[in-house]
Amino acid sequence: MKRELPLARANRLLNTGCVVLVTAGTGDNTNILPVAWQTPVSHAPMLVAVAIAKAHYSHELIADAGEFTINIPGSSMLETVHGCGSMTGRTTDKFKKFGLTKMDAVKTNTSGIEECIGHLECVVEQQVPVGDHTLFIARVEHASIDEEVFDFTREVWKIMGDELLLHHLGGTYYTTSTTLFKL
Ligand SMILES: Cc1cc2nc3c(=O)[nH]c(=O)nc-3n(C[C@H](O)[C@H](O)[C@H](O)COP(=O)(O)O)c2cc1C
Repeated sequence: MKRELPLARANRLLNTGCVVLVTAGTGDNTNILPVAWQTPVSHAPMLVAVAIAKAHYSHELIADAGEFTINIPGSSMLETVHGCGSMTGRTTDKFKKFGLTKMDAVKTNTSGIEECIGHLECVVEQQVPVGDHTLFIARVEHASIDEEVFDFTREVWKIMGDELLLHHLGGTYYTTSTTLFKL
């Protein structure tokens, strides 16, 4: 039996992560926000998109700098991920609050988060207003990933071991992917 889901929750059927930590801003003014609404949108050039609410401090930082870094947290960072999404960088330095380390970017000016397992340095190409969010479409300038979690021969996530990808189900619910299927 199918049950109607309120439209306000329709997105939860489509997007369950993986959750990323987006860093925005420069120097001491670098902020962190968790983002579940992220997706690749082009292979060549390699473009990705993140939907950021207009009210968030990070929105202002990304719009001003024209760049951001996507950091991919392992599942051991669950509490940090949720914590970073429970406060604003307008009043809290989230790097200090959660004991995180800034990592110099290779191609941009936006630091990454050393404790994360993967990083994509992004330069904004288009800002598309979408309701109460802006879709920032950005070119990936540099990407790196921990060799422990990525299979460089098959070029896919290993989906095993201690560090799994985190997926946000909504509210305070998260899950991880634990099975790798190969056809
Ligand atoms: C797991 C998770 C996923 C989130 N995904 C998004 C998202 O895709 N887009 C967005 O604008 N906010 C998202 N948020 C909300 C922001 O991360 C949150 O409001 C954050 O505190 C804003 O921080 P800022 O004001 O310092 O930018 C998410 C929060 C959590 C916990």
